[in-house]
Amino acid sequence: MQNQASALKKFLTPGEVAKRSGVAVSALHFYESKGLIKSIRSAGNQRRYTRDVLRYVAIIKIAQRIGIPLSTIRDAFSVLPEGHTLSAKEWKVLSRQWREELDRRIRTLVALRDDLDGCIGCGCLSRRDCPLRNPDDRLGEQGTGARLLEDD
Ligand code: FES
Repeated sequence: MQNQASALKKFLTPGEVAKRSGVAVSALHFYESKGLIKSIRSAGNQRRYTRDVLRYVAIIKIAQRIGIPLSTIRDAFSVLPEGHTLSAKEWKVLSRQWREELDRRIRTLVALRDDLDGCIGCGCLSRRDCPLRNPDDRLGEQGTGARLLEDD
């Protein structure tokens, strides 16, 4: 029993992780349910986390802040070996990938904003003419001139 108690000391309780990471215990449970972090169970069936969970929680918070989907975070973590502590080098690779993703989204948002500029004061809401209603210009691929006028 003494050995088990000292072995468990190297693990963190959900409350300790919450306090150190600034994340609610309920959020830890949520992350776990989504496969982002893992816990072990104590003899009393209580969750315990290895210390590296703090690093993972920090990364999850950063990723969420910049809008990275949980599935993308999970995919990134899933290639790491079990019990692996993410190194600074690995974080550099990951954060670079997410920066590229952020750049892609910024370009998309800028394009949408520019398209919306053309709608301000227009009001046509036309499938043919409005770039926001016809973003891929699918009808344009069929040639010039009126197309599907009955739909407008
Ligand atoms: S509403 Fe006319 S271009 Fe979008």
